[in-house]
Amino acid sequence: MVSSRGQRMPPSPIRKLAPFAEAAKARGVHVYHLNIGQPDLPTPEPMRRRLAEIRDVTYAYTPSAGTAAYVDFLKLYYRRLGVELSADQLLATTGGSEAIQFAFLACAEAGDHALLVEPFYTNYRSFATIAGVELVPLVTRGEDGFHLPPRDAWEKARTERTRMVVLCNPNNPTGTVYRREELLAVAEFCRDHGLFLVSDEVYREFVYDGRTVTSALSLEGFSELVVVVDSLSKRYSACGIRLGCLATRNPGVYQACLHMAQGRLSPPGLAQAIAPAAAALGPEYVQGVVTEYQKRRDVLFEGLTRIPGVFLRKPEGAFYFVARLPVDDAEDFAQWLLTDFSLDGKTVMVAPAPGFYATSGLGHDEVRIAYVLEEGDLRESVRVLSAALPAYRKARRLD
Ligand SMILES: Cc1ncc(COP(=O)(O)O)c(C=O)c1O
Repeated sequence: MVSSRGQRMPPSPIRKLAPFAEAAKARGVHVYHLNIGQPDLPTPEPMRRRLAEIRDVTYAYTPSAGTAAYVDFLKLYYRRLGVELSADQLLATTGGSEAIQFAFLACAEAGDHALLVEPFYTNYRSFATIAGVELVPLVTRGEDGFHLPPRDAWEKARTERTRMVVLCNPNNPTGTVYRREELLAVAEFCRDHGLFLVSDEVYREFVYDGRTVTSALSLEGFSELVVVVDSLSKRYSACGIRLGCLATRNPGVYQACLHMAQGRLSPPGLAQAIAPAAAALGPEYVQGVVTEYQKRRDVLFEGLTRIPGVFLRKPEGAFYFVARLPVDDAEDFAQWLLTDFSLDGKTVMVAPAPGFYATSGLGHDEVRIAYVLEEGDLRESVRVLSAALPAYRKARRLD
């Protein structure tokens, strides 16, 4: 019999609609994928060149914590952010995903609670299920730009079993960038109650309108409680190399994660060989990427907010946002877009928001949209959605 944990493992709500998208494509409908965060920009040239130069004849294991070259590259990357970390505070991981898994396993016992705000990155649910950790959500709202709740809300949600707070900043799925004071308030809450602060910062560079984002690693006086999850996937448009890291100044957490890392032997070797080539990229690389995504955000924000009944605050970072639509069942709407609707042979795929909430009933009129397509495709997507919403309301007799 499959374990109860195995049976509880949630399927990905983002991938659930994939068979309908495939069927739409088989019918000849072009599907614009606004549902997943797979950046479309090329991986930087220095990294691709380094890969082409590799002459190894044996693709060997690497040290469990990462190669010296990769760890040095990480130290330099953080130093450029103004964060000093030593080699024994940085652990190479298989994407940010493995860093999240290690952090959950190291910071909580099975049965313990993790506080986080919803909507949240859906895969936290998978990692929490594996670790036996219960996610306890605090609601954030579109009207507030999905910013963090005040301290008393955290106090109320805390139980005897609360061991950590998980934040994602800039946020997937909402695109919110937390202000330094917000972050500080949560860090103080964690410190006062002896909790860990797991900060997922994989979208660190993706902040718009001249904003800056505060890394939890740069908050003074919280070294012992901060565990940062990081990744090269989004920063270098390199999701497929599967490389990230966990950064913490807490020696106990580091040791625990290192031992988990030893158990899985090694992070990806080829990825570690090519990653250091990114050190050659100057600030113009990030500026270029940010300019491109900001332009895409503006196209979608301006286009979507013109559609009657659509509500969203201007997203501040990452490459997602959660929009409220004039529908009462976002799951049904997202499926209908793929099964029943097309405009000039085109439709869009969006991620229904209920999968990003732990509280049932929330997000029923919201979808998450990712802007990882080029501008022309985004303009077409807006045109499709503008036509689809009134057609859907008519089909479901919502008017
Ligand atoms: C918030 C967040 N954290 C972590 C990850 C994990 O990414 P990866 O394992 O590719 O680094 C993702 C990927 O979409 C994400 O959105």
